[in-house]
Amino acid sequence: MSNLQNDLFIKACKGQETERTPVWIMRQAGRYLPQYRMIREKADFLTMCKTPELAAQVTLQPVDLIGVDAAIIFSDILVIPEAMGMHLEMHEGKGPMFHNPIRNKDDVSRLKRIDPWKDLKYVMDAVSLSKKELNGRVPLIGFSGSPWTLLTYMVEGKGSKNFSIVKKLIYNYPSLAHEILNKLAEAVADYLSAKIEAGVNAVQIFDTWGGILSPADFEEFSLQYVAKIISLIKKKTEPVIFFAKGVNYDHIKLTSAGADVLGLDWTVDIGKVRNIVHGKTDLQGNMDQTILYANTERIRNEVIKILESYGYGSGHVFNLGHGILPDIEPENAKALVDFVKVESPRFHRKESLSKGT
Ligand code: CP3
Repeated sequence: MSNLQNDLFIKACKGQETERTPVWIMRQAGRYLPQYRMIREKADFLTMCKTPELAAQVTLQPVDLIGVDAAIIFSDILVIPEAMGMHLEMHEGKGPMFHNPIRNKDDVSRLKRIDPWKDLKYVMDAVSLSKKELNGRVPLIGFSGSPWTLLTYMVEGKGSKNFSIVKKLIYNYPSLAHEILNKLAEAVADYLSAKIEAGVNAVQIFDTWGGILSPADFEEFSLQYVAKIISLIKKKTEPVIFFAKGVNYDHIKLTSAGADVLGLDWTVDIGKVRNIVHGKTDLQGNMDQTILYANTERIRNEVIKILESYGYGSGHVFNLGHGILPDIEPENAKALVDFVKVESPRFHRKESLSKGT
């Protein structure tokens, strides 16, 4: 890691001692930043993803403007289904949409096996360019959706409230669901391996919709595929973060996927989870993202609450419990990052131990 000037994030992901807690923000490259909106006015979302110069530019914005300890490559989880042959559209205010959702065996057989270096070359180019422009200032994170979360969008065709169509698929045609999930697990493993080869320093797997499944269904339709991906990823030292939003009944079970770090949403007490996982994994999170609507004094208190709950020592990456919302004031995001930098060192000093912090 000697080529990184700030490697706090990587060290924390590995449970190594740091002088303070590192911090980054899920969805940090996005619409809450006026500088993002300025670029977005001239190019649509997918054009931004597919133009490495624009993707690199917005990837670096939160590093320069907010002072985060890691950059995350600007892209989207849905570029994988698009590369597999689905037609993706991003609608202003409506979110992503597939006009040809997967509904039967024929649709599944049309899904192509991807070569990330060919079919998602624009992502690899954006990674190389972002690395070059970061010039070692902070690490770069790559990411993917989990197979289950990708499947929900591919089958529903868009965001959903009760996920009826994908639930009909898993209960009536489980083997078809598993066929797609297997294809997706292979694609995600190839994709994340390529991103690591292209230069990312860590990867995060987002299972945004894991929480809509019962514990047994989560194990069958999500967790086993995340475990498969992690076992297939060709990495040397790059940490893997697994964020399963809304899956909070069994954190030990989550560690069985083999990630280095578990991302936590805002509904759990990070200190309690730390006691449960007991060194099996490091933790990321987990401030309620809507606290950023409050004043800076309240934000400071919440930052301290989370640092105190986690307690003394290494292995914590500060983050929100889900992505930052588009109408958050950038100054409040900056205040969060500054408070973590100012308030966390005392949780890393040996002498703090005797003071009981
Ligand atoms: O974290 C980052 O800053 C990197 C960029 C990033 C985006 N999407 C950019 C984006 C990341 C990590 C994602 C992940 C993603 N995309 C997830 C998993 C994480 C999560 O939040 O649960 C999911 C479920 C998606 C799918 C997706 N993409 C949705 C539902 C939407 C529409 C809702 C929304 O936030 O607008 C998108 C579009 C999207 N992805 C935008 C951005 C900046 C907004 C597009 C715009 O500028 O118009």
